[in-house]
Amino acid sequence: HIRPPLKNVRGVPLKEPIAKNFESVWDFCPDPTDILIATYPKAGTTWTQEIVDLLLHNGDTEACKRSSIVVRSPFLEISNPSPIPSGLDLLCKMSPPRIIKTHLPIQLVPEGFWENKCKVIYVARNAKDSLVSYYHFDRMNVTQCEPGSWENYIQKFMKGELSWGSWYDHVNGYWRERENRNILYLFYEDMKENLQREVERIKQHLDLSVTDDVIAHIAEKTSFEVMKENPMVNYTFRPFLDQSISPFMRKGEVGDWVNHFSASQLEIFDEHYEQQMKMSNIPFRTNL
Ligand code: A3P
Repeated sequence: HIRPPLKNVRGVPLKEPIAKNFESVWDFCPDPTDILIATYPKAGTTWTQEIVDLLLHNGDTEACKRSSIVVRSPFLEISNPSPIPSGLDLLCKMSPPRIIKTHLPIQLVPEGFWENKCKVIYVARNAKDSLVSYYHFDRMNVTQCEPGSWENYIQKFMKGELSWGSWYDHVNGYWRERENRNILYLFYEDMKENLQREVERIKQHLDLSVTDDVIAHIAEKTSFEVMKENPMVNYTFRPFLDQSISPFMRKGEVGDWVNHFSASQLEIFDEHYEQQMKMSNIPFRTNL
């Protein structure tokens, strides 16, 4: 594997070959029953995918253990080299309801999702923890761009130069549209605080009839500790992820950023954050 270059697609940096194949993703026609899970990378995508799949299977963990999360919930824009199928290849072989993952910012999500009133779940995570998690992910994933030094990585994050673009634009884009487009806007921090409560919210949003006992069971089976040991969700099946550098299920905490930022880095980051988010009222939490 060679670390890919980034290419500008309608103002958003996307890595190759996703950028090259973007037009076919843009033409994707979803089914009205499709469920879209959208996030900026590292916000708890896999966690939410597993929860939704368990909800659709009424908490049957055995059913969900039959195949990896990438097959049960394809990644819309991912374009893999053969023989690994792309997200679009996987989707066309699936029957509804399909759980689709995307990291695309809202303006790049294919129009059909809105036209067909598909159920959408957005998960947001505070900027500092997202940045830390993304940095470690880019170190261990050779299909991502070279992360460079931590110092440099902070700069790239602030400038929106990482793949899938600006975190600030991403979280605000979905936030502004959440009511118009019936988007359930979740926070990683809320999930850490009370997972059962958030699973219940997802159930309501998806109009499912699942009992409280099953909700409690799902919350238990999607804890960090359980998912870390589950080979179907911990990404140990992906050879291009070097988990000896940093495990995919790394720490799963709120507030790990305190172990990464120096005092001066924090000052610069916080000042820039204030500027970028001054028009925004998203209630992010950086600690619990
Ligand atoms: P860390 O790197 O901070 O540990 P994504 O799936 O969007 O790539 O997000 C990955 C991040 O979510 C990682 O964060 C990972 O550990 C965390 N995560 C995955 N499953 C989790 C769970 N069940 N509980 C808490 N955090 C989880």
